[in-house]
Amino acid sequence: MSKLTLCPTIFLDSYTIYRYLILSSICIQFAFCQSCKSTPFYDSTAEQCKASALGFATAENMNNALAVVVYNEDSVFPLHKPERTFKYCDRDIVIKQDWSGLGVAAVVWDAAEVLSEYLENSADIVKDKTVIELGAGTGLVGIVASLLGAKTTITDREEVLQYLQTTVKSNLPGAIYKNTQILPLDWTRDLDKFHTTYDVILGADIVYIEEVFDDLLSTLIQLSNKETVILLSCRIRYDRDTNFLNRLEDHFDVVKVLYSKEKDVNLYKMTKR
Ligand SMILES: C[S@@+](CC[C@H](N)C(=O)[O-])C[C@H]1O[C@@H](n2cnc3c(N)ncnc32)[C@H](O)[C@@H]1O
Repeated sequence: MSKLTLCPTIFLDSYTIYRYLILSSICIQFAFCQSCKSTPFYDSTAEQCKASALGFATAENMNNALAVVVYNEDSVFPLHKPERTFKYCDRDIVIKQDWSGLGVAAVVWDAAEVLSEYLENSADIVKDKTVIELGAGTGLVGIVASLLGAKTTITDREEVLQYLQTTVKSNLPGAIYKNTQILPLDWTRDLDKFHTTYDVILGADIVYIEEVFDDLLSTLIQLSNKETVILLSCRIRYDRDTNFLNRLEDHFDVVKVLYSKEKDVNLYKMTKR
């Protein structure tokens, strides 16, 4: 068996080095999973996280050096995939993600999938309605609303607008895209540019920054009238998220219409009091 001399007194055979490398890689993967769970933007089930680790080295392949898989495309944490394809309204919706460049806004969160699926199954809510999406990110939900026949305004912060525009444009047929607006709306400073109310307000995973909860509440109040249907899909990560949802009840009738166990996402339907 070949030996590696690290210093005059330490000799490691290749099997020991191999075991050391495998153990280190598992420790790194474990640390990654722990950190992604604790971030406010942790958006994976424990299973997804575990799968990510397993793509690197499994218990089985630990016993079989030839079976070690260093990279497995299917096990990549969904938020880190450069591109994801979703199927809604009989169309492939292709979203290019940019987690490392634009962060939370440029990846599709589970809440967006839950809300998109709900809309697809309840198309009447948005068909021929004026719809605004808040904190749209990739714009997946707004794209689905547009495809279902809504007159949609898709909004987010100025910083992500160009990315949002590109994603929306590449996924909508020309005629529908022409009827879809993409506008900057930062709840903390752009509200005075919006002078109308909408039939429907959509928001996926937008309840997470405590500092802007007041502004988000003001936005929901200003953009709605008594007929407006507000749909918020949320993963509850912290008590502060629940507290904010409770605060909404001072102004809106709030009903939880759905809980996706698979994705750990709640969907709330609200109308103004
Ligand atoms: C977790 S991401 C959700 C993105 C998308 N709705 C989804 O579910 O895939 C939160 C979104 O809220 C937006 N956001 C954060 N603060 C905002 C603010 N003050 N005004 C408007 N949008 C904001 C971010 O830019 C981001 O797109």
